[in-house]
Amino acid sequence: MRIALLGGTGDLGEGLAVRLASHTDHEVVIGSRDPDAAHDAADAYRATVADHGRDVKVTGFENAMATDRADVVVLAVPPYTVADTVDSVAGGLREGNVIVTPAAGMCRDDDGAHAHLPSAGSVTALVAEAAPAGVDVVGAFHSLPAGRLADLDAELGIDTLLVGDDDRAKRVVSGIVDDVDGLRALDAGELANAAEVESLTPLLLNVARQNDARDLGVSFR
Ligand SMILES: NC(=O)c1ccc[n+]([C@@H]2O[C@H](COP(=O)([O-])OP(=O)(O)OC[C@H]3O[C@@H](n4cnc5c(N)ncnc54)[C@H](OP(=O)(O)O)[C@@H]3O)[C@@H](O)[C@H]2O)c1
Repeated sequence: MRIALLGGTGDLGEGLAVRLASHTDHEVVIGSRDPDAAHDAADAYRATVADHGRDVKVTGFENAMATDRADVVVLAVPPYTVADTVDSVAGGLREGNVIVTPAAGMCRDDDGAHAHLPSAGSVTALVAEAAPAGVDVVGAFHSLPAGRLADLDAELGIDTLLVGDDDRAKRVVSGIVDDVDGLRALDAGELANAAEVESLTPLLLNVARQNDARDLGVSFR
């Protein structure tokens, strides 16, 4: 499968790219608003994976070009940019494509991070509103710690929750997640449950801050 990571130059993009490239046979394409940045990031990620013994192809393009011919498109961009990012690549999206959104609506103050959901109800719902007809949206990866993903020597042993209205799309994303050693996908239900899933992100940030911990993930047992 061809997986485009839009905003793949950022922290989550890096973590997902090196794990997918190192653990799976999926084709990883880095997207950016700047094609040179995408190209440089792809080179850097490929070098990281090669240092860990796997020679893989990772390419980088401007977001719209990265989306072209992708099967799965991950919106690894800030929450307030998701709708504009979908609009900017809509011409390259085809029926049957799956958009994955890891963004959580959140604000911060002196007390910590707090869920701050858009009027659509969740960022996932916002993305679903922006997605062209025939393109399915899955909320996932919200609670994956980017730093731990990017460190290929780090053990994972963590879960990610999936929300969305289309079972086929959730199976596609679940299959990709389960291809990565140490990650497990759990179905958290329909898109209407996205707010609960997205709210896990500020919770994890607050627990990390209060306990002087970094890169926390969750494992449901
Ligand atoms: N970091 C984590 O541990 C983590 C974990 C789970 C979920 N998430 C979620 O995943 C998403 C990405 O997180 P991140 O930490 O990787 O974010 P980030 O580093 O702040 O941003 C990721 C990329 O988004 C692009 N970007 C920035 N401003 C933009 C704009 N106005 N329009 C379009 N693209 C823009 C940039 O790429 P270019 O400049 O190259 O276009 C940037 O490299 C966020 O929604 C976050 O909530 C993060």
